[in-house]
Amino acid sequence: MKITDALLAEHVVFHSVFDHIELVAPCLESLAEVKVLGGMLAALLEHHGVAEDKLLMEPLEHRLDHLGHRDAFHHEHELIDGFLMQLQKLDDVVAAKALLLKTVHASRRHFDKEERLIFPMAEQNLSQKTLLELGQEWGAQRQVATA
Ligand SMILES: [Fe+2]
Ligand SMILES: [Fe+2]
Repeated sequence: MKITDALLAEHVVFHSVFDHIELVAPCLESLAEVKVLGGMLAALLEHHGVAEDKLLMEPLEHRLDHLGHRDAFHHEHELIDGFLMQLQKLDDVVAAKALLLKTVHASRRHFDKEERLIFPMAEQNLSQKTLLELGQEWGAQRQVATA
């Protein structure tokens, strides 16, 4: 499987997670529940972000740098991680729900940009062989993560 197909498949799962959070977050009444959702999202995003940085952004670094996108993407990952860390420190349920939904919106925008710009850029600039090798590495990483 090509790395772009693997990461896109992960995005599909994230879109369902985002839909679910947007559906249930407004109805939550306890701070603990909001924090559990935020913690789950942080854990999922961390695995995805690590794979994406290593197996997609690094091979494309030169191209992204040239177009001025490299720092923007790193910044967006940091911003989203920062929101989720901040969420764990809040002691007000209304503020926590608002920050969780803000994180989901920021993540949706970020994912959309990757799907429109980065994945097609990878398909155009990396050879089929490289895309498949990176996909294999992704598979190996996931097996380690699930072992
Ligand atoms: Fe990303
Ligand atoms: Fe992504």
